[in-house]
Amino acid sequence: MTQTPTAAEEALANATNDASLARSIARSAEIEADIAVNPGRYRMFTGVRPTGNMHLGHYFGTMHSWKTIQDAGVDTWILVADYQVITDRDAVGPIRERVLSLVTDALAVGVDPQRSTIFAHSAVPAQNQLMLPFLSLVTESELHRNPTVKSELEATGGRAMSGLLLTYPVHQATDILFCQANLVPVGKDQLPHLEQARLIAQRFDKRYGRAVKDHPVFRRPEALLSQAPMLLGLDGEKMSKSRRNTIELGMSADETAKLLKKAKTDSERVITYDPAGRPEVSNLLMLASLCGAGAPEEIAERIGDGGAGALKKVVTEAVNEFFAPIRARRAELAANEDYLLEVLGQGNARANEVAEKTLDDVRTAMHMNY
Ligand code: TRP
Repeated sequence: MTQTPTAAEEALANATNDASLARSIARSAEIEADIAVNPGRYRMFTGVRPTGNMHLGHYFGTMHSWKTIQDAGVDTWILVADYQVITDRDAVGPIRERVLSLVTDALAVGVDPQRSTIFAHSAVPAQNQLMLPFLSLVTESELHRNPTVKSELEATGGRAMSGLLLTYPVHQATDILFCQANLVPVGKDQLPHLEQARLIAQRFDKRYGRAVKDHPVFRRPEALLSQAPMLLGLDGEKMSKSRRNTIELGMSADETAKLLKKAKTDSERVITYDPAGRPEVSNLLMLASLCGAGAPEEIAERIGDGGAGALKKVVTEAVNEFFAPIRARRAELAANEDYLLEVLGQGNARANEVAEKTLDDVRTAMHMNY
């Protein structure tokens, strides 16, 4: 293909370059300060694919912030992205079980269904219908250049690209835009998605005007960049379920101890915090630190020449103590499927209400309101 990228395509490809990253970081700090004063201005939206049980990487990466943001008074929306599961794989797996497990995890970490909305893609027809007009607002080459599509494709290891994989940034834009969210907590790898959603919102307004009221049909979502440190898996590689190197939220204290015992370290007896030189040992120190055991350097100093055995003991105690209440709550919730279905049903109803209202506005703007 010899097409030259348009300005919009460049903006998309550059969504993670240094200058725009610096802008996003600065803007995130501003938003964070404003949330403390004006939480009512924000609707936060986040999504998770129900591909298996949530682990400590998810928890410290994003999940813990759901409760924080909710408790600050922000209207919080959490999507169980069930349709997105089939973007990069052929089958959905035991999807019902996984969806309910995700609802359980969300509630266990403190998402309160009275204040937050948790719902699933497949239950909201009006949201999915936005996919059609949105698809008319993007070009094929723009999608092919989308950095998230590219990296998803690489991750599938040579599988042919499905139409859904190519267009999933558009579907993800329907997630964010249908519910009029203006705040999306993301890691920097997800910034191109947000840029795509903003572009679609802009183009919709440009093409169909503001026929609805005196305001645009869609709000412009902004990123809240997470500063969470990246936790590595127990083998020192990227933490991910497929690598079997995770500790899951729902694991018992014994299972946790067993896994940590096998965690990779190095042969140096004196424990030091040196993320570049000693990634595995430093990762364990960070994990203990995130679980409230103090600064990683302090923990290292306390352990001194106690070696990997002492380090693992400290980490195991910290993790098990920190997650004990979450795990207890999780077990209680998991035993009550009716309640989980009720929470999801309420969230779906709420999402349908908002999606239908947005679709109404879209129909009006497109003069298709008959
Ligand atoms: N793509 C995200 C992931 O794989 C999940 C997701 C779906 C999402 N829709 C979203 C994230 C909307 C933020 C906003 O984890």
